[in-house]
Amino acid sequence: MKQTAKAPSNIAFIKYWGKVNEQLRLPLNSSISMNLSGAFTTTTVEFSSEYPKDEVQLVDGEFSRDEQDKVIAALDRIRQHANISARAKVVTKNSFPKGSGAASSASGFAALTVAGFAAAGVSLSESELTVFARIGSGSACRSIPDGFVVWEKGQNSDSSYAYSLYPYTYWDLRDVLVIVDSEMKKISSSAGMEQVTTSPALAARLAAIPQRMEAVKTALASKNLAALGEIIEEDCIDMHHVAQTQHPPVMYWNETTKILIDAVKHWRQSGLPVYFTIDAGPNVHLIYEGKDEAAVVAEVKKIVGIETVILNKPAPGTTLINEHLF
Ligand code: DP6
Repeated sequence: MKQTAKAPSNIAFIKYWGKVNEQLRLPLNSSISMNLSGAFTTTTVEFSSEYPKDEVQLVDGEFSRDEQDKVIAALDRIRQHANISARAKVVTKNSFPKGSGAASSASGFAALTVAGFAAAGVSLSESELTVFARIGSGSACRSIPDGFVVWEKGQNSDSSYAYSLYPYTYWDLRDVLVIVDSEMKKISSSAGMEQVTTSPALAARLAAIPQRMEAVKTALASKNLAALGEIIEEDCIDMHHVAQTQHPPVMYWNETTKILIDAVKHWRQSGLPVYFTIDAGPNVHLIYEGKDEAAVVAEVKKIVGIETVILNKPAPGTTLINEHLF
């Protein structure tokens, strides 16, 4: 059977940085995110005895050997669970540049997991699907549930799952992803977080997270952008501080990243409510409400060094669709 899933990328308000268990991708801390409507992956999977081996294709690009191996490992987990042996054809397409910081691994493994299990004829609960997506790439588990999503760090694999806190229709929050460098990032998030325990700042970060998670939940409950934005920025700076103080240090920002961080503060001082956050790359996400979109985009366009912008609204989670890629 052939099945296709469409999965959004997501932006973390409280970030996942570091694992307790590398293989199972059990995180050091819980995290919380919003699905992004403008950055998504579509993946078609078909299992068939006609295929002599797994065939993995990326439309408009090429997977590295390592990426192909990760996709095949995910197919193996699906086959094992479904008790089938047929090889698969997988075709996948991103709506955004690979490695742009738009977290293609999050939407990629979410789409692969949902399409893969459906194609294998296995029906799993949403939280079971998030566990399988998580083993592919941690942040992928947050791209399966609807809208605003919590990933509980849990105690073991089954309890480290993601769930929706609010649907995508809950709040007209926006995220413009400002691409300052669309080249493939030099250090992937997986590689970047490997040495996390070498940072002297890690203990303080982990101690602060439970309170921050609560603060984000409270801000979301009251749709309080100022309260939310303050915590988002604090956690972003903290995550990058940990990365930058690891051995060897991991530096994701470039000059334009820093210019944007400064600009956001100026815009806020002049009355425009907008906040920043940054994942494992130099590109910057700006968070604001729908009513301020035109003003935010007008300001962003004045900054030199910006390649392109991707406008996002909150998005539903991963869904099966009827338009197959082959
Ligand atoms: C900085 O989920 O890409 O974007 O589990 O190793 O595949 P792996 O890492 P990944 O890490 C995402 C890190 C982050 C923060 C976040 O999205 O929470």
